[in-house]
Amino acid sequence: MCEPLKMQIHTSINNLRAALQKREGVVFVPTMGNLHDGHISLTRQARAHGETVVASIFVNRLQFGPREDFDKYPRTFQADCEKLRAAGVDHLFAPTEADLYPEPQQYLVEPPEIQNLLEGQFRPGHFRGVATVVLKLFNIVQPQVAILGKKDYQQLIILRNMIRQLALPMVIVGGETVRAADGLALSSRNAYLTPDERAEAPRLHRQLTAIAAAVRGGSREFARLERDALTELDQHGWKTDYIAVRRQADLQAPSGGDEALVVLGAARLGQPRLIDNVEI
Ligand code: PAJ
Repeated sequence: MCEPLKMQIHTSINNLRAALQKREGVVFVPTMGNLHDGHISLTRQARAHGETVVASIFVNRLQFGPREDFDKYPRTFQADCEKLRAAGVDHLFAPTEADLYPEPQQYLVEPPEIQNLLEGQFRPGHFRGVATVVLKLFNIVQPQVAILGKKDYQQLIILRNMIRQLALPMVIVGGETVRAADGLALSSRNAYLTPDERAEAPRLHRQLTAIAAAVRGGSREFARLERDALTELDQHGWKTDYIAVRRQADLQAPSGGDEALVVLGAARLGQPRLIDNVEI
């Protein structure tokens, strides 16, 4: 058993609300569990933004497509508890589906067109499911600050736009992506890589880093840079969905001004699909 020595564990919405009543400076880190150092770094950053750190673990069915890995998504609750407790999290909200969705969730948050770009082309409905559960979690936890990883860049931007347009009284802080020594971004899905694939996997980040360096060096040949990286990956056994240089603010194609850019990529290596990005 994961004994709540200091960290309190809540499954029901009411219990969590009661525990957080009158708390100020609530900082929230939502997750789907199967935690690694990337998640834990977000909970450690949370401490700097407020007194009460709340994490959640909930594998959200609404954001998985019919052919995606909802049933197989790794559930490692005891180990996750230990990591969150060791990281100094004060409250863990870990509802069951019956707690969070006691009736079918028919009111959904429909993000605008940005949800159909990039990841959205390959995961239709994904960001609707993300926005719906995250708005619900924000309403339950009512944090002043939420910390979300830059690893899921499109998710971060969509959720920032959501809280701005819906006037939620909070801010979202983007946490830097935590990587293995060879550059591979930590992800639950890395566990599905075979040893050979794991050795190959850092190539995605290397290609993104090379594009970022070329753009920083003055290149504006985005289409050629994107195509060359895609070809390079596919020649090494990847099935690349996209490599794209976009504006950080709205993930649209660069317009030629001096706006901040980011290069994003997604590709399948064997079974798992890896995503990554590098800010320019
Ligand atoms: P999950 O994939 O569990 O990720 C939880 C948070 O950890 C996200 O903000 C994600 O961007 C961040 N994260 C993942 N890998 C990271 C890494 N290597 N370095 C830094 N941060 C990393 O993202 C989700 O869950 C869900 O969509 C959720 C927002 C919880 C809604 O269900």
